[in-house]
This record gives sequence, structure tokens and C-alpha cells, in this order.
Amino acid sequence: MTVPTLEVHLSPDEAGAALRRDARAGLSADEKWLAPKWFYDARGSELFEEITELPEYYPTRTERALLHEHAADIASASGADTLVELGSGSSEKTRLLLDALRAAGTLRRYVPQDVSKSALEAASKEVAAEYPDVQVHGVVGDFTTRLHQLPGGDHRMVAFLGGTLGNLIPSERAEFLRGVRDVLTVGEHLLLGVGLVTSPSVLVPAYDDAAGVTGEFNRNVLRVLNRELGADFDVEAFEHVAVWNARDEWIEMRLRATKKMVVHVPELALDVHLDAGEEIRTEISAKFRLNGIASELSDAAFALAECWTDPDERFGLLLAEAV
Ligand code: SAH
Ligand code: AVI
Repeated sequence: MTVPTLEVHLSPDEAGAALRRDARAGLSADEKWLAPKWFYDARGSELFEEITELPEYYPTRTERALLHEHAADIASASGADTLVELGSGSSEKTRLLLDALRAAGTLRRYVPQDVSKSALEAASKEVAAEYPDVQVHGVVGDFTTRLHQLPGGDHRMVAFLGGTLGNLIPSERAEFLRGVRDVLTVGEHLLLGVGLVTSPSVLVPAYDDAAGVTGEFNRNVLRVLNRELGADFDVEAFEHVAVWNARDEWIEMRLRATKKMVVHVPELALDVHLDAGEEIRTEISAKFRLNGIASELSDAAFALAECWTDPDERFGLLLAEAV
């Protein structure tokens, strides 16, 4: 069995400092917020995997079907020898790309990158065992800050799947796309999976499932703050809220305090006052229109090569070339 390499670009100390910075900014703001990357400790990553199997959560199975149908075209259009995947999580759908690139005879290396060390380690080991002829080089890192440290390759394709682009706020999104473009050379590719604007009657249940798994995932960020910052959030006193923001065309997940409370965060020497009914925004999940995302790619110096959608037009898979 081949052993995957694991490179750490985000040490526990750096992650701790970043969490303290974010939590101080978000919990001191008039409209409180927390960044979604803090959902993903080991438990958060497991809960996300459970979400992907929920009947209401269509993005994963829709994207998987698109990859299944078009992986061979993606492999031949990209000719990639190195597949870099940002926010790779369990790398489950990635197998479809690895199989196609291997069948095309170009694949040499897979570079999954994720903030979640537990998810990355498990996925890297599994992929290395299943693909003994592929060099697996995992990177623990933050794709909003550390792209320039990713390893090079003769001809890379960067995959950013699952609709995770939509979890960045618009300014971060533009910076992220430019950042990916900056690390690529002309002719290399970006494969992007994005959720598309669809009916709120489909969107809202996807983020507010009947079994309450998404609520648990949402509340998990408070458990992370309790463990990492010594905070005393009464986790069960927060309700999960998912709303469609029609103006910005994104789902907003929030946590609503069911009573007035003061939360102590000793690591920040901060007391957080919450009124009954007050909400903390924990995630946006933007949904795209094809012409909008095509122009964002073009602004970042990518040329759209291919664009596939499912028959219901709920999800888009876009292949773009660095120009
Ligand atoms: N790509 C997978 C997983 C999506 S879940 C799929 O399509 O199913 C989002 C993943 O991105 C999680 O594994 C999470 O840990 C990771 N992630 C979130 N924010 C990140 C960041 N800033 N940098 C790196 N990884 C991040
Ligand atoms: C990872 N990301 C694309 C998911 C999404 O759909 O925005 C995270 C998620 N949040 C709630 N459910 C799933």
C-alpha cells in the first residue's frame, strides 16, 4: 500500500489564532456572525457527510450525477496529471474524476486540501489505498489564505466542488477566484461545482431537513467555540434557522437565541450579550445564475470551456481554463 504524504500549512496554533480573531470580530459585531469554516472539526465533518445523504439535500447527488456523466470529457479536456482539490472533505465524488483521469492515462498525483485534518487524513489514506499508482499529497490548509503554498505539477486541474464557493461572501469569492488563477499557469484548469438559483421550496428544506441533521451541524460551531475558547454557550438554547435571502440569492443559516443570555468567552476575555430572539449568522450558501458565475470567472481571467447542468437546473459543473 502507498502511504499518502500529509503537509500541514495550518498548524493548530495558527488555526487557534485565526479562530480567536474571527470569533472576536463576529461576536462583537452589531449583527453577529461566525465563519462557516469553523463548523468542520471531526464531528462537523461527520455531520456534513450525513447531510449529503439526506433526502432534502440534493446538491451532492446532483453533482455526483453530473460528474458521472461528464468525467471522461473533463479528463480529456483538461489532460491533467495533477488533480488539486480544495475543501476536499471525504473525497467521495472525486473518485469519478480520478477514475476518468486514470483511464485517460494522464493522472500522476492527487492533492486534496482541507481545513479539517481528520477528514483529510481519512480520505487521503482511503484514496492512496484505492489508487496505488497515484501519489496522494494531502495538505491541511485554508483555501482563503494559503493557495500559493500548494504544490505545482506539469498540468494541474483544481477542483472546487460541492458548491463550497457559495459559502464565501462575495468579496472573498472574487479574491478566491483571483487567488486560484494566480497559482495556475495559462492552459491549466479549474473545475467548479456550484448550486444554481432554484425554487425556495426546494432550497429551504435542503438547509432545514426534517431529521434535524443540519440543525446539529449548525449548532456544532458553538461546541467548537466551547471546546477551543472555553466558551459557555448553552448549545441547546439555540434554534437552527435557514432562510432564503431573495435579494442576495443565498441561503442564510443562523442560530437564534431562545432566551436572553450572557456567554463568557474566557480565551477572548469577552462577554457576549444576546437578547431572546437574537441571531448569529453562521453561513451563507449563495446560489448562482450561469451568466453571473461565467462573468465572475472571466473577471478572474478564466475562459469558460464547458458548462453542464442537471435537467432541473439546480446545479452547475463548470470547466474553466486559465488564460
Ligand atoms: N468537496 C466536498 C466537501 C464539501 S464540505 C463535497 O463536495 O462534498 C466543505 C469542505 O470544505 C469541508 O470539508 C471543510 O472542512 C472545507 N473547508 C471549509 N472552509 C475551508 C477553508 N477556508 N479552507 C479549506 N477547507 C475548507
Ligand atoms: C459545504 N457547503 C457547500 C454546504 C452548502 O450547501 O452550503 C454546507 C452546508 N450547510 C448546510 N448544509 C450543507
